[in-house]
Amino acid sequence: MRDPNQYAVFADERSRPFFSLLERVPERPFREIIDLGCGAGVLTRSLAERWPQAHVIGLDNSPQMLAAGAKHAIPGRFDLVEGDILAYDKPTDLIFTNAALQWVDGHETLFPRLAGLIKSGGVLACQMPSSFQQPSHLIMEEVARSGPWAPKLADWRQLQVKELEWYGNLLLEMGFSVDAWQTTYHFLLQGDDPVVEWVKGTSLQPILNRLDEAERAAYLAEYAHRLREVYPSQAHGTVYPFTRIFFVASRVD
Ligand SMILES: C[S@@+](CC[C@H](N)C(=O)[O-])C[C@H]1O[C@@H](n2cnc3c(N)ncnc32)[C@H](O)[C@@H]1O
Repeated sequence: MRDPNQYAVFADERSRPFFSLLERVPERPFREIIDLGCGAGVLTRSLAERWPQAHVIGLDNSPQMLAAGAKHAIPGRFDLVEGDILAYDKPTDLIFTNAALQWVDGHETLFPRLAGLIKSGGVLACQMPSSFQQPSHLIMEEVARSGPWAPKLADWRQLQVKELEWYGNLLLEMGFSVDAWQTTYHFLLQGDDPVVEWVKGTSLQPILNRLDEAERAAYLAEYAHRLREVYPSQAHGTVYPFTRIFFVASRVD
């Protein structure tokens, strides 16, 4: 289950890569646009604004997220649809996907399939976190494997995102022109244990969903304690470096 309110806590920091990605999408007369893993669709609406002639669909498999975003839809112009990225198979002009494909396994087959859906002159634009070797995520895993909750988390594993070069090479080999880059944001977060609050909205959810209330509280206490050493609270806040990869692949034919 996903919590749109927790995801929205750092709305400003989380929306920035969406716009960095959007800025690099070339100006082409797209007619059909899909935002895969659109969440509440608040940001997807900017796609409908930039390409007013297009039909824009935001697709997500979380009814909670879609319900939170229903008010942003413009029926017939910008629709929010419940569905699974794994099942998406409609050829389209622009596939835009921000901070979502890290949740989908099997990038070896997923990316060639999605790239194969891009119509002539179309674009695949993707951003994913590349944060899984950061202390916040390594410690998340260490705590998961070492506490009394470990048996309940045996089937949990960290999300898998490959190196940027892997995605770039794949798309080049498929004949796309590729604009790829990586950015490490240094967020200055406020409040108590803000890095825990950050990951609670994303990567930590599959762990918390597997635990009961008492285990959840104990896990969070241990995790927060460990993170305080690595991300200390300083005079102006807590600095949280966070790396993301971006690529915009354009079909040249
Ligand atoms: C971190 S949120 C990003 C939301 C939005 N793209 C943004 O930039 O704010 C990831 C979204 O991907 C969705 N998602 C994850 N796996 C999915 C799947 N297999 N099919 C459809 N949506 C999925 C989640 O429900 C969630 O709303």
